[in-house]
Amino acid sequence: MLIQRASDIPSSEITPERLYSNRREFIKTASSALGTAAVISILPGCMNSSASGTAQNKARGPYDTDEKQTPYEDIISYNNYYEFGIDKSDPIKYSKNFKTKPWTVSVEGMVKKPATYALEDLTKGFAMEDRVYRMRCVEAWSMVIPWMGFPLAELVKRLEPTPSAKYVEFKTILDPSQMPGQKPSIFGGGLHWPYTEGLRLDEAMNPLAFIAMGIYGKSLPNQDGAPLRLVTPWKYGFKGVKAIVKIRFTDKQPLTAWMEASPQEYGFYANVNPQVDHPRWSQASERRIGEFYKRRTLMFNGYAEQVAQLYSGLDLRKNF
Ligand code: MTE
Repeated sequence: MLIQRASDIPSSEITPERLYSNRREFIKTASSALGTAAVISILPGCMNSSASGTAQNKARGPYDTDEKQTPYEDIISYNNYYEFGIDKSDPIKYSKNFKTKPWTVSVEGMVKKPATYALEDLTKGFAMEDRVYRMRCVEAWSMVIPWMGFPLAELVKRLEPTPSAKYVEFKTILDPSQMPGQKPSIFGGGLHWPYTEGLRLDEAMNPLAFIAMGIYGKSLPNQDGAPLRLVTPWKYGFKGVKAIVKIRFTDKQPLTAWMEASPQEYGFYANVNPQVDHPRWSQASERRIGEFYKRRTLMFNGYAEQVAQLYSGLDLRKNF
């Protein structure tokens, strides 16, 4: 993002993965990633969720788009994950041996249940849901991704922020021994580590805000943010912090990694907005991965009905 790139959207000739949610595969990989206890807690959710049956034919939830889903092969091979390099093809190559088990998440700040949680305890009992979301990157490309996970609001409610908490901050793991981009070099694209993102608490409670642990019914590949990452489909993709190890509740707006690196280019809100250009390129249109022609970018990425009220009274030109 900091590094200027030519338009580098690959034309996808890849045959889409059979569009079904492979629940058995998810359970198998999840049990190795999370341990049996976690999978037992996931299982009832999988059974209740719309994960069974074909993703194309299933009854869609109120938040799902029915647009053509981006092929699995594209979702896992065209990534932004600067800890593993600045090129879109780096994360799939360099994250292969990234260790996601055991995994802990430390919960800190203005919250009634601060602790370091094993991932399986943090997510225990949450039903795994499918959410097919349009995703728009600040670099003006987009995808449609069938995520699997749970609403962020469920997690926030479980952790019980205190009344003074106004924001929630997320941090990615800091481990240069596994993440070459975190070593002092230009490999990491000029970011300060660990990668940090944040939401206002009311944004975090919006039903669209989601913690993903899978795609296409399989556990999340390392390059897509395993074992858990944030998904906020009305915001530019950089909000979607990967491999989360820290969640902190605070009354101050968190300093996000991209704001710290380049505040004139990247704001805290990061709402998809075709009317506010990035200083170096337009945000009016986008290229959907796999398509040739550009399409018009929609306000809040097409989710205005669900989220516009969060920003009433806010000048979106200043608060980009
Ligand atoms: N999270 C971490 N830890 N490091 C990153 O470099 N890149 C962000 C976001 N989350 C990034 C990250 C950006 S710029 C985008 S567009 C999305 O991840 C891309 O998610 P995807 O690779 O799963 O499509």
